[in-house]
Amino acid sequence: MKSINQWQAEDYDNQLAFVSEYGKSLISWLRPQVGEYILDLGCGTGDLTHEISLLGAEVTGMDASSDMIARAKQKFPQLEFMEADGEHFHTERAYDAVFSNAALHWMRNSSDVVDCVWNALKPGGRFVAEFGGQGNVQIIVKAVEEVLERHTGINAAERNPWYFPTIGQYSRILENRGFMVRQAYHYDRPTKLADGEDGIAGWLTHFGDDYFKGVNPEQVKEWCQEISEIVKPKLWKNDAIYADYKRLRIEAFKPENQV
Ligand code: BEZ
Repeated sequence: MKSINQWQAEDYDNQLAFVSEYGKSLISWLRPQVGEYILDLGCGTGDLTHEISLLGAEVTGMDASSDMIARAKQKFPQLEFMEADGEHFHTERAYDAVFSNAALHWMRNSSDVVDCVWNALKPGGRFVAEFGGQGNVQIIVKAVEEVLERHTGINAAERNPWYFPTIGQYSRILENRGFMVRQAYHYDRPTKLADGEDGIAGWLTHFGDDYFKGVNPEQVKEWCQEISEIVKPKLWKNDAIYADYKRLRIEAFKPENQV
């Protein structure tokens, strides 16, 4: 899983608050019950962990970033948080549900993640997740690659850090591990970026490091301007850039007779 230590936990709470806001609707798929043990995988600064706890479940937040976990503990000292990598974690207890919002697209070794989730669940437990599905931020990705390739000649697609599967691809991974897929939904969710005309530069500052490795900040700024010019005709509406987010939402469960 990508280390997100370089993300500022405070920025995540301020400019990226939409991540948790949108995630609230995913809780309606989770339907947490009082007293259930739930693991929030890729919890960031803990807002959704907290929301789930308010419904009476015993929730543990997990994230690979020590900064995010530190901030989550500071905001919600009454909750349990742990630092662990989503592709290689092991839990002491078995959970009734594993929940994950906007995190799995950073975990390219999806079979390893699914193995860890399986091992963390009780028989009959459920896995409810939403993340980037196939075609997610494609207009932005294509523009980044076009600009990088024009200036450097590299094959920028090789730097793409994300995993955006189709329903079929992800369901196959789940089913190969033994999960039953109960629901899967791929949908468009245009997402308004902060900062008006500078929305793309801001978004790439948070998420685009892998593309700009070794490039000096002044250069990155210029290239972001070019990227912005390419995407604006397609993504600008009224007063802002709306990133072309596409979500994959799934619910799967571990059959009762499985350990
Ligand atoms: C997403 O939530 O879809 C996303 C976030 C950061 C980078 C790429 C995709």
